Amino acid sequence: MTTHSADTPQSHTVGLLAEFASQDELIQAGRTMRSAGYTSLDAYTPFPIHELDEALGVRPTRLPWLVLAAGLVGGISILAFQWWTNAVDYPMLISGKPLFSLPANIPVTFEVIVLSAAFAAFLGMLALNGLPRLASPLLRSVRFARATSDGFFLSVAATDPSFDPQATPAALRQAGATEVETLTESTTQQPLPRFLGMSLVVVGSLAVLPPLIIAGARSTTSEKPRLHNVFNMDFQPKFKSQTTSQLFADGRAMRPRIPGTVPRGSLPTNPEYEFGYVEPAAAAEPAAGDARQWVEEIPLRVTSELMERGRERFNIHCAVCHGRAGFGNGLVSQRAIELQQGTWVPPTSIHTQYVVEQPVGQLFNTITNGVRKMPAYGHQIPVEDRWAIVLYVRALQRSQQASLEDVPEDIRPTLRELN
Ligand code: HEC
Repeated sequence: MTTHSADTPQSHTVGLLAEFASQDELIQAGRTMRSAGYTSLDAYTPFPIHELDEALGVRPTRLPWLVLAAGLVGGISILAFQWWTNAVDYPMLISGKPLFSLPANIPVTFEVIVLSAAFAAFLGMLALNGLPRLASPLLRSVRFARATSDGFFLSVAATDPSFDPQATPAALRQAGATEVETLTESTTQQPLPRFLGMSLVVVGSLAVLPPLIIAGARSTTSEKPRLHNVFNMDFQPKFKSQTTSQLFADGRAMRPRIPGTVPRGSLPTNPEYEFGYVEPAAAAEPAAGDARQWVEEIPLRVTSELMERGRERFNIHCAVCHGRAGFGNGLVSQRAIELQQGTWVPPTSIHTQYVVEQPVGQLFNTITNGVRKMPAYGHQIPVEDRWAIVLYVRALQRSQQASLEDVPEDIRPTLRELN
């Protein structure tokens, strides 16, 4: 049993390290020391011993509360930030959607909660453990190395209010310690090894170079083209849209279509079929208003397949606005009316008298080119499908204008009168 006399001019006592023969003796000693009033106790064992926490009075870590607090603060702040940017600072109304809606803001909120909680867990763990720490007086003890194989150790910090240089070692031995060692910490400043100092100087000066070069390049001009390390597809012989070109007299890079040209393979061989109307012959001097002659009959063989196709396409392309039955009450319209401040034009009911009276060619043209507030769908819906939709629109209109003659004779007697 040895107890080195502690404080010298070069070092001071930071605590005592006592070794015990077994875990049971260690736990017992922990209890004894604790009931003797010691509070700054710590134990080191080759394997986890759960009773130790209770024996030494180790409180559960406060880290979870830190993590919770950081997560809450992070989540609430980012939610408030998103609300502020979207609903207050730069409100933008898109299709009548609410300016702030919780579901849309969940992803960022979730990410920031996780991020702040993770930082709190990592940094909080370091802080609560007093890390990083470059050296520990424990590691100077040769005996202490056995804490990883078969040694059971108890330490008492010199900062413990009950600590006494004479009484505490005696108390530890009384509690069954086989060895008691004084842990000391050097009070003198050791000079940094020369090579370490030199390397720090070299690395430090090298690290200043890149920012200096960048700063120099930014504040001077150069004849040389700038360095372009990754080319990607940055240099392509092409014009960007809306730019100028020296090649053409008008200086425009984007060329307007030359009147009368048609993309290859798109020559309208059958205007009735492709446009739904024919321009009257130039010689006929058309009046401005009724220049077009609308096609009066669907230029396709009308079959139940075509009708079925039309129903399907109508429900895909038109029903969102016009409603499945065509009354103009589609979901988009309903929602827009509910949310908008009066800028929404409700879709026309296809059962409106003037629409019912329109020739099929005009309906076809409405789909192709749109009408007033209704956008054009020609680029999305192929010609044949447009005619199928027109056919289905006709069927829908007919469904609201049906007369008794439309009902097969054998079912007529089963009809009841409505009023
Ligand atoms: C984005 C919503 C929307 C969609 C989709 C839509 N429409 Fe319309 N449609 C409108 C609106 C709005 C009007 C009324 C425009 C106005 O009065 O300014 C209208 C008007 C019409 C008219 C009346 C034209 C006239 O001469 O007054 C017809 C017929 C019509 N739509 C058919 C269709 C068909 C067929 C489809 C499917 C290919 C379709 N619409 C898809 C919004 C839509």
